[in-house]
Amino acid sequence: MLKLPGLIDPHVHVREPGQTHKEDWDTATQAALAGGITMILAMPNTKPPIFDASTLDLALDSAKQKARCDYAQYVGAGPNNADKVASLADKAAGLKMYLDSTFGELRLDDMTLWVPHFEKYPKQYPIVVHAESRSMAAAILFAAIYDRPVHIAHVSLKEEILLIKAAKERGIKVTCEVCPHHLFLMEGDVPLSPSPSAFPGIRERGKSGRAEVRPRLATQEDVDALWQNLDVIDCFATDHAPHTLEEKDSENPPPGFPGLETALPLWLTAVKDGRLTVDDIISKMYVNPKKIFNLPEQADTFVEVDENAKYEIKAANQFTRCGWTPFEGWKVKGRVTRVVLRGREAFKDGKVLSEKGFGRNVREY
Ligand code: NCD
Ligand code: ZN
Repeated sequence: MLKLPGLIDPHVHVREPGQTHKEDWDTATQAALAGGITMILAMPNTKPPIFDASTLDLALDSAKQKARCDYAQYVGAGPNNADKVASLADKAAGLKMYLDSTFGELRLDDMTLWVPHFEKYPKQYPIVVHAESRSMAAAILFAAIYDRPVHIAHVSLKEEILLIKAAKERGIKVTCEVCPHHLFLMEGDVPLSPSPSAFPGIRERGKSGRAEVRPRLATQEDVDALWQNLDVIDCFATDHAPHTLEEKDSENPPPGFPGLETALPLWLTAVKDGRLTVDDIISKMYVNPKKIFNLPEQADTFVEVDENAKYEIKAANQFTRCGWTPFEGWKVKGRVTRVVLRGREAFKDGKVLSEKGFGRNVREY
């Protein structure tokens, strides 16, 4: 039996408010506990997005009623809300900026709109950026110019991890996270759709069915570069982005994979394979996220794992509402058997024991 601290996932799409057919605060936090994760930081791209005091209250009210593990909620950077979100910083997980993808009200069309956020958001919390490739380089330049912490979400490319390494060597305040799917999967690894002929022309239209995810699954060279630079990776985050199977198998599949329940078993299997150490898991899922996001200690909180339990990942056994996993049928070694959260048994032998509302907002600890 292996004992781990309660793990922290800084990148989770809870989908509430607005898209509770995909997930909500209840099912997301059940999935977290089943995966050995006792604290989640929730992304702001809900419906409506979380970008001011009233939308933040909307998300936090649902969380207060339904969460079964601890949490904090991000606010999103929009074109006109730099003062507002900066004033909410003590109540938020951090500020999320979508820098190169268009995203409804959180759209930042040009770099002049980044400036007030970098000037005003309090420096004891990071700005988390969704920025790929060259826009990631621009975000790192902003971190240098404004001398403030920037956390790069879901790094997937060789060019990205190498640039982050170089920036860190020069003392720029940049940290980063990598997701399990960018370390264990490559382009072409997730079957396109239930049957390859179900949607003829899907590839020509630039769609890849269930495999749709942002950032896209990358090449062998990219995956190798990430594994070779584990020391540059500060955090393992799931980017748990649940969409239902019906949506994923539709003609216009939304991007995103669920990940809360599969991350730890995959990391533990990599430990058995000699690709990772238990210390790597602890530093990237507990020590570093706690430091980067300025998170409190969860007293009397730990996770027990049966390191030798072998089993197959099956969507049917998951707590997430989305009903699928890109790792279906994968054989893993390492099962979460028990989770104790703030002195209470929150998960044991496949059952979630903490009730709705037991989860606490860590910014109100
Ligand atoms: C995210 C989602 O579904 O919310 N999807 C994803 O593929 N990561 C959207 C996003 O973060 O861009
Ligand atoms: Zn995301």
